[in-house]
Amino acid sequence: MKKTLLITGGAGFIGSHVVRLFVRKYPEYRIVNLDALTYAGNPENLKDIEHAPNYVFEKGDITDEQLVPALFEQYRFDGVVHLAAESHVDRSITDPLAFIKTNVFGTANLLNAAKNAWKDHFDGKRFYHVSTDEVYGSLGKEGYFTETTAYDPRSPYSASKASSDHFVRAYQHTYGLPTLISNCSNNYGANHFPEKLIPLAIHNIKNKKPIPVYGKGENVRDWLWVNDHARAIDVIFHNGNIGETYNIGGHNEWTNIDLIRELCRIMDKKLNRKAGESAELITFVKDRAGHDLRYAIDSSKLQRDLGWEPSLQFEEGLEKTVDWYLNNQEWLDNVINGAYQDYYTKQYVEREQ
Ligand code: NAD
Ligand code: TYD
Repeated sequence: MKKTLLITGGAGFIGSHVVRLFVRKYPEYRIVNLDALTYAGNPENLKDIEHAPNYVFEKGDITDEQLVPALFEQYRFDGVVHLAAESHVDRSITDPLAFIKTNVFGTANLLNAAKNAWKDHFDGKRFYHVSTDEVYGSLGKEGYFTETTAYDPRSPYSASKASSDHFVRAYQHTYGLPTLISNCSNNYGANHFPEKLIPLAIHNIKNKKPIPVYGKGENVRDWLWVNDHARAIDVIFHNGNIGETYNIGGHNEWTNIDLIRELCRIMDKKLNRKAGESAELITFVKDRAGHDLRYAIDSSKLQRDLGWEPSLQFEEGLEKTVDWYLNNQEWLDNVINGAYQDYYTKQYVEREQ
């Protein structure tokens, strides 16, 4: 094995696409996936590669001060791609402390373990922290977030991610830890937990349940296909300049209401419903507290310096995503009824004995 990499949060939505890409593209790497399997982590997301010879799953918590240094000692990681986080804004509003614990303390715990394990041997090492555009706050109708936009987080989720970004930079400046950060816009695609807008809407449209749209549906998000985010993470991890930040985005802004209408149109066709039938499910509900109006990313640095660009048009990506959910009802049922916990016991715990 040429390198051993630690990927955290690899059983989640984006992490599972990153793990799959790395395991398949780099057979010479050993990929260790550390994931606590919270409600958002699902080993079924990685069913197709779980037996790959270069893949290891470690169930554990990034906030564990014994476990994380022990894993560095055991595997002698050459690099870290850190995705594990509490990731849902609505949950951060009801339980902010869980976000501080995982996103802030968990990240600091990983940084500290990397610093201690790699001390004086930083050559060739990389600690890559995956973050969000939400750290920059909220835009008005004009403008884009660039890498130099001042941080202005406004939800407990974005404040915890901003704080973790600051710790990453502090470890780079203070200790010389070789770090990289990327801040990405909203992702969509397969294996997205159905508490987030797009999978929740697909699920509700399919089951003819109300589609909850917060406020007037005028908030704008810049949507990127999750596989394009995974490709960007690959490019940045391997070719990014140490100490730098890269913004990742799709140049693909949609108001929530237009996005939901587009989804309804696609699903009317796929489900042989009459045009306009699904849109009748749209239900405007009480707005999210402190709801950020608009996110939009300027990703020209990543495109110019590292040659990355999104591969898919949104309409095509949305159709692929709808197809994936319609063809993977079992995945959705398991996620919703918690049966994937049984899957984990079968796949990992029983096998250990
Ligand atoms: P997710 O919620 O789908 O997955 C998070 C994963 O982390 C899960 O597998 C969960 O089990 C694991 N995890 C949570 N707490 C843990 C802990 N204490 N120890 C170990 N594992 C733990 O999240 P996601 O949408 O895949 O996001 C992944 C990363 O990308 C996050 O850091 C998020 O901030 C960032 N990000 C997400 C988006 C997006 O649109 N989803 C956009 C930009 C950046
Ligand atoms: P979400 O998928 O939670 O991502 P984020 O809040 O990180 O951008 O929400 C995307 C947008 O959709 C956001 O403006 C909130 C809105 N939204 C709804 O209108 N209804 C919903 O049921 C959800 C979950 C989100």
